[in-house]
Amino acid sequence: MKRDVAIVGAGYVGLPLAKTFAEAGKTVVLVDVDAERVAQLNRGESYIEDVSSEALERLVEEGRVAATTDYDELRDADAILIALPTPLSRQREPDLAIMLSATEEIAKRLRPGHLVVLESTTYPGTTREKLLPLLERGSGLTAGQDFHLAFSPERVDPGNSQWSTKSVTKVVGGVNETSTEAASALYSAAIDNVHPVSSPEAAELTKLLENIFRSVNIALVNELAQLCDRMDIDVWEVVEAAATKPFGFMSFKPGPGLGGHCIPIDPFYLTWKAREYGFYTEFIELAGKVNESMPYFCRSLVSQALNHARQRSLSGSRILVLGVAYKPDISDMRESPAVKLIGLLEGAGASVSYHDPYVPEFSENGIVMRSVALEPAEYDCVVVVTDHSSVDYDRLVEEAQLVVDLRNATGANGKHSDKVWRL
Ligand SMILES: NC(=O)c1ccc[n+]([C@@H]2O[C@H](COP(=O)([O-])OP(=O)(O)OC[C@H]3O[C@@H](n4cnc5c(N)ncnc54)[C@H](O)[C@@H]3O)[C@@H](O)[C@H]2O)c1
Repeated sequence: MKRDVAIVGAGYVGLPLAKTFAEAGKTVVLVDVDAERVAQLNRGESYIEDVSSEALERLVEEGRVAATTDYDELRDADAILIALPTPLSRQREPDLAIMLSATEEIAKRLRPGHLVVLESTTYPGTTREKLLPLLERGSGLTAGQDFHLAFSPERVDPGNSQWSTKSVTKVVGGVNETSTEAASALYSAAIDNVHPVSSPEAAELTKLLENIFRSVNIALVNELAQLCDRMDIDVWEVVEAAATKPFGFMSFKPGPGLGGHCIPIDPFYLTWKAREYGFYTEFIELAGKVNESMPYFCRSLVSQALNHARQRSLSGSRILVLGVAYKPDISDMRESPAVKLIGLLEGAGASVSYHDPYVPEFSENGIVMRSVALEPAEYDCVVVVTDHSSVDYDRLVEEAQLVVDLRNATGANGKHSDKVWRL
C-alpha cells in the first residue's frame, strides 16, 4: 500500500513522529519488530504518554496511521525514517547493532527516489560512515544521487506538554544538498520550523551538544550541592536567587543523579568517537563522574538524617522511596537514579519499599519491586527521589517521621529541620 512516510521503530520517538505527520495529512506506517506493540497500535492503543489513545484511534480509523512487522511495506513509502534504539554496551561503547541490522533490511527494499533519514542519537559520522555504505551495498544505488540520505535528531522531551514534536525546530543535515532539501521539504510539511545544516555530521553533533550541555550543567550544580552540604548553605535558595538574573544564567537543579534515555548515555557516544582522533572529552568525563557520584552522596544524606534526626542507623531502618520514574509525572524508568539509590540503601542494610503513582512495578538491574500504598508514618524515613506533582507533600511532611527531600518537593525552609532534610 502506498504511504507517504514509513517510520522504523515505534517507540518514544517513532510514535509521536507518526502522529505529527498523520495530523499534517500524511499517511504513515510504523514498522516495528514487537508484534504485540504493532497489534496495540492497530487497535488504536497508545503505550506512549505523549500520544493519547483517543488521538491514535482516530488516526488509525481514518487510515492515516498503521503499524506492521513487515519490512516489505517500506517499498511503497516515499520516505523511511529510522527511530531505533542506540544504547551503550556494557563497556559503555556505542552499540549500533539494532540500527545497522535494520539498515541492512531497509537496503534490500530501497528504490530510486527514496528518502532515508536517521533520527536515532549517535556520534558524528554514523550516517555517512555506517548507513551510507550499507544502503548502497544492499541496494546497488548511489546515495545523494539515486536516493536521498540525511540525519535529523529527534528532540522529544517525554511528558513535556509545552513542546511537542511539531513545535520543536527540526535540525536536518543531508549527505549532499539535494538530500538536505528533500529531508527539509518532508519535515516542513508537518513541523513548524526546519533548520538545515551543512552535513549529517553537524546535525549528529548538534544533538550531542544539547545533551552534553545538560549533563555538564547538572553536574556543576550537583557538585555545588555537595559543597553546600559541607558549608551548610541551601543550594536550592542559591539556584533560585541566581535564576533571577535575566541574562547569562540558566537554571539547572541538583538531584540524585541523571536518568532517562539520553543524558546519561549520549555524551559517551562522543567520548568514544573523540578517542579515534586522540582527543579526550574531559568535560563529559568529569560531568559523568560527578553525576554518577550523586546516588552515593544521597545515601550518605539519608544515613546522616536518620542518625541526627532519629538516632537510627541506616541498617535496619524502614525506608520508603517516593517516586522511581526518572522524572516527574511520567512512568519512564530508563536509567532512573532511583534504582541505583534503592540498591545502595538495601546494600547498607535498610529495608526499602517504594511508592510511585506512575510505576506499579519494575524490574531493573536485578531489582524487582512493586509499588506500595503511600503510608508515610509506617517508615523511619521517606526519601523523595522523583517529585511527581500528584503527591500531597504537605500531608507527607505532616504524617512522615522523617523526610529526605532530594528534589526540593516539600518547599521546606532551611536545609535541615527535625522533620525534613533537603539535598
Ligand atoms: N526517548 C527519548 O526521549 C529520545 C529523545 C531524543 C532522541 N532519542 C533517540 O531516539 C532513538 C529511539 O529512541 P526511543 O526512545 O524512541 O526508543 P524506544 O525503545 O522507545 O523504541 C524503539 C522501538 O524500536 C523497536 N525495534 C527494536 N528493534 C527493531 C528493529 N530491528 N526493527 C524495527 N523495530 C525495532 C522496539 O520494539 C521499540 O518499539 C534513540 O537513538 C534515542 O537515543 C530518544
